[in-house]
Amino acid sequence: MTNNLWYKNAVFYEISVRAFKDSNGDGHGDLRGIAEKLDYLQALGVDCIWIMPIYPSPLKDDGYDIADYYAVDKAFGSLDDLKELIRSAHEHGIRIVMDLVLNHTSDEHPWFQASRSDRNSPYRDYYVWSDTDKKYKDARIIFVDTEHSNWTWDEKTGQYYWHRFYASQPDLNFDNPKVQEEMLQVARFWLDLGIDGFRADAVPYLIEREGSNCENLPETHDYLKKLRSFMDQHYSGRILLCEANQYPEDVRPYFGDGDEFHMGFHFPIMPRIYMALKKGRFEDMAEIMHRTPPIPENCQWCTFLRNHDELTLEMVTPEERQWMWEQYAPEPRMRLNMGIRRRFAPLLDNDRRKMELANSILFTLPGSPIIYYGDEIGMGDNIDLPDRNGVRTPMQWDNSPNAGFSKNTPFSDLVKGAEYERINVAGQINKPDSFFSSVKRMIKYRKAHPAFGGSSMEWVDTGNQAVAVYVREHDGDTVLILNNLSASAETVNIPVKFQKSHLDLFTGQKLNLTDKLTLQPYAYLWLHIQK
Ligand code: BGC
Repeated sequence: MTNNLWYKNAVFYEISVRAFKDSNGDGHGDLRGIAEKLDYLQALGVDCIWIMPIYPSPLKDDGYDIADYYAVDKAFGSLDDLKELIRSAHEHGIRIVMDLVLNHTSDEHPWFQASRSDRNSPYRDYYVWSDTDKKYKDARIIFVDTEHSNWTWDEKTGQYYWHRFYASQPDLNFDNPKVQEEMLQVARFWLDLGIDGFRADAVPYLIEREGSNCENLPETHDYLKKLRSFMDQHYSGRILLCEANQYPEDVRPYFGDGDEFHMGFHFPIMPRIYMALKKGRFEDMAEIMHRTPPIPENCQWCTFLRNHDELTLEMVTPEERQWMWEQYAPEPRMRLNMGIRRRFAPLLDNDRRKMELANSILFTLPGSPIIYYGDEIGMGDNIDLPDRNGVRTPMQWDNSPNAGFSKNTPFSDLVKGAEYERINVAGQINKPDSFFSSVKRMIKYRKAHPAFGGSSMEWVDTGNQAVAVYVREHDGDTVLILNNLSASAETVNIPVKFQKSHLDLFTGQKLNLTDKLTLQPYAYLWLHIQK
């Protein structure tokens, strides 16, 4: 594990620790549970897992409301369990990154308790207080379904405090050097324990300034650069992954000159993959990729189809959002804030062809892909559960009671209709024709080809808008990708330079391309171009 640029062509896997595997029968998934499943993750081809927050928390936002930055919540295990998990993961060739929530704490964090106890508390200035709720009017509200203001009145001390998310998540004051230092110490603590890096949560909002929308401010970047340089100094090879739900031109500064984040999620391409599949046309995808600026050589995008939140529609126009809601969330309760609270497989009608095609796109775009736990088996959701809980249900390991997740009643309802009896890991892992095996094969071929780890992506004009055709090339390795987005068979014109015989990565056979090629509905091809 010595290659410091390992993340540039790695396959990531996001885990809700509570929902993945319960090792001790208390109904909650835990760190030892993940350790039990490392062989599984290795078999899939995962290089790095991202574990969602494991800190003690009152769970008003599933652990993104942290009450203690220096401990593991008892439900998940102990610091020793984490150390053991890291050790064992490394033995499996798998790295682990965790959430670092910088922007806010829980209102139950001792800093906030002290801060709100008295205006003269030494911790008062750890948070953002104001006599008026009229400040920072240009900052949008993120949890629009629940919150009506970013300010909440504190009766006892007679001031408002600032929060970008739930009122139970007061924002830390990053203008305070003490807060800046505290959070470096938090990072140090987990890095010393051996963690391979952080998915840094909600970073655009660290600093507020009047007259701005309070996102992506220069002072925010200044602090993030400090965090990076601290990591480079003491912990080289560990990474920072940026969660900034922004357009590519606004994410670009988070890479700095290669001296801020190693990686950043590519939010806007995600909904456009779903748009492309529904419209049977690739133009929205191409448009956003053209709009994606180059990033420094030592940086990488992180691409995804789904995660633990609602499928966000913040990075589309209001018309597109409305259209996406109509197409993918026909029932109002499927909608949440500015998004859709459903999982990957049901969004694509559990249609195996569409599910494979979406993954073909994910695994061939520039950037390192991340899989959301359960999506590799096409697990469903449970929209009866509130907020985003419906996409965080227990992992379906087998068809035994509680889906093999726990010996006892799980912390959450499962997907309805006993879906786990039909869709589970045990039923797919050894079957070459399962969805799991298709995803596993894509990962294998992706990793075998340096082309995918590079940054180049060249669109090929084939005269047919229904088929996304592009070339990925890096280090002398070239792959031609064809994705038929449409429900009908589609014919493309093959440019002269590709009219030869190529290796089809999935069949291992030569495919001779002539001037035209017809692809079956939702078919995809990855062709290795031999020089
Ligand atoms: C996380 C959410 C969380 C929010 C506040 C995010 O962007 O992904 O799950 O609710 O930050 O911490």
